Amino acid sequence: MRPALIAGNWKMHLLRQEAEAHVSTLRSGLARVPAGRELLIIPPFTLLVSLAECLQGTGIALGGQDLHWESSGAFTSGISGPMLRDAGCTYVLVGHSERRDHFGDRGEVLRRKLRAALAARLRPIYCMGEHLAEREAGQTAALLGTQFDEVLGGLSCAEMAEVELAYEPVWAIGTGRTATPELAQDAHALLRGQLRAEFGSDTASACRILYGGSVKPENASGLLSMRDVDGLLVGGASLSADSFLGIAGAA
Ligand code: PGA
Repeated sequence: MRPALIAGNWKMHLLRQEAEAHVSTLRSGLARVPAGRELLIIPPFTLLVSLAECLQGTGIALGGQDLHWESSGAFTSGISGPMLRDAGCTYVLVGHSERRDHFGDRGEVLRRKLRAALAARLRPIYCMGEHLAEREAGQTAALLGTQFDEVLGGLSCAEMAEVELAYEPVWAIGTGRTATPELAQDAHALLRGQLRAEFGSDTASACRILYGGSVKPENASGLLSMRDVDGLLVGGASLSADSFLGIAGAA
């Protein structure tokens, strides 16, 4: 049994006052969330330290949106795994499509970032997904296979057990166009099969695969009802505490 993880990726949104008000609304609405479900907030770096304090005692985890592959050094603007840990994080995104598309993050860099996260005792959420043209050209399975192998290949089973996966079709991110639960399930089943082939069935059945892309309170329960959908990575709808709670509370 994989406890569902509901993660809110705030991207480059919210200032401190708004963020603290948001978290206090979340705190008061936690009774709406079914037992056993894990919640995670992934705000911009500037909010991490103050939110770590606001989240104390709530059980809501904190994550970073990216990390540098080195633990320290002359890398102006870089934020390292140990820094995220020090700020109160237990998770970090690796390979989000916006990092891939706007900042050029690719295979080798992502491979190093994922290992830096593990070395800092952070749980990386490794994101994969195809663009619309790739889906229409029938390349989804091959692309997911490549994104999987180039970053996760060579990990031990024990390391893989510390990694979360996220399937995020790029055409569904921020577009309002969600994948149907069946389409998400197909992609998740592919990834589960690849986990099984490369890491064995124990690791494959323990590893969580989240879905992301225009998740809203109205479509969350359909997605979560799929066998291989083990959680949701929510962007836009996580910016309102009420809609994030609606998603986290979906049956
Ligand atoms: P969205 O973003 O929910 O706004 O589509 C999802 C994501 O980028 O993780």
